[in-house]
Amino acid sequence: MAKFLVTGGAGFIGGNFLHIMVNRYPNDQYVCIDALTYAGNMETLEPIMNKPNFKFVHEDITNREAVYKLFEEEHFDYVINFAAESHVDRSIENPEVFLKTNILGTQVLMDACRKYGIKRYHQVSTDEVYGDLPLDRPDLFFHEDTPIHTSSPYSASKASADLLVLAYHRTFHLPVTISRCSNNYGPYHFPEKLIPLMIQKALRNEKLPVYGNGLNVRDWLYVGDHCNAIDLIVRKGRDGEVYNIGGHNEKTNLEVVKTILKALGKPESLIEYVKDRPGHDLRYAMDPTKIETELGWKPEHNFDTGIVATIKWNLENQEWLKHVESGEYQNWMKRHY
Ligand code: NAD
Ligand code: TYD
Repeated sequence: MAKFLVTGGAGFIGGNFLHIMVNRYPNDQYVCIDALTYAGNMETLEPIMNKPNFKFVHEDITNREAVYKLFEEEHFDYVINFAAESHVDRSIENPEVFLKTNILGTQVLMDACRKYGIKRYHQVSTDEVYGDLPLDRPDLFFHEDTPIHTSSPYSASKASADLLVLAYHRTFHLPVTISRCSNNYGPYHFPEKLIPLMIQKALRNEKLPVYGNGLNVRDWLYVGDHCNAIDLIVRKGRDGEVYNIGGHNEKTNLEVVKTILKALGKPESLIEYVKDRPGHDLRYAMDPTKIETELGWKPEHNFDTGIVATIKWNLENQEWLKHVESGEYQNWMKRHY
């Protein structure tokens, strides 16, 4: 039996991770802390709230005193840090909270790990720390040793955290691992991000705002495949190592949007080209060879199957979407578009 602290579990990826792991490992204990920012939603945790091996604590990872108290009480074996501010466009509007949560929050968690002792601290990071690749070089991919080269305050904050994690390993011998994953999609995805936003807009016959010329490329991975990769790394990965995660599903934004429109039987005339994102990364593409060969990870979904499952989930969960689209979300949509 092991005890896990999972931060940011009321968000998209952390929520999916908990749904899978709480059921997969009934003998392990999972404690989730989440500050319930605009992106955190208790309804996401509803399917596991009553499980005997799950507990929720409403707390901010930057609150050092509260985090230490929790570590003292719970004696965690593993800490998996999903908690973050995660939307690039919001980081362009207001970088400060990104630095606070993504960098200082990571530091607080690792300090607690040093003070109370753990078997492994895992940092959930992103391909965005590598910057972008040119569109005319499809032969290039991000490898684990590709230099860090960030574009947005979001990616800069995630890269800073990664460097801090590796520094805590080298200097304090903290047992750490880092995963850097490509763009996720799937159930419980907050509808400010491309895929769920476009599904919602198409369903309402509203214009679909595509930044710039729509030719930027993202490497899409179904969220469950990301969660399985993290599970493998935490249990079998090597201390101090970085693992890239991605499934070679590169698509231009236009391809993604057109796929959604087609699946929903909506016309392409709903596409509207809008002002480009400042500093917009051109292409992300991961080389996942290391996690495939070293840990035997393999994705179960490709984009064709994953997008069908995702659209189906969104159609069947309009209540969840309606709730997260109330309040602060409306202000963001008005300010941004
Ligand atoms: P999300 O925005 O959906 O969820 C973030 C969660 O963290 C929310 O529940 C929020 O309430 C919580 N949170 C924010 N600040 C907090 C704080 N100070 N203390 C405690 N909880 C706090 O994000 P996501 O898409 O699920 O991303 C999870 C992690 O995965 C992030 O670290 C992100 O950088 C990384 N990641 C995301 C993607 C992607 O495509 N979404 C890809 C690769 C890596
Ligand atoms: P996003 O989901 O925000 O993820 P990230 O910026 O972390 O990759 O955006 C994915 C791509 O979609 C990115 O190239 C920006 C683009 N995009 C749009 O064209 N329109 C939108 O309204 C949004 C939110 C994103």
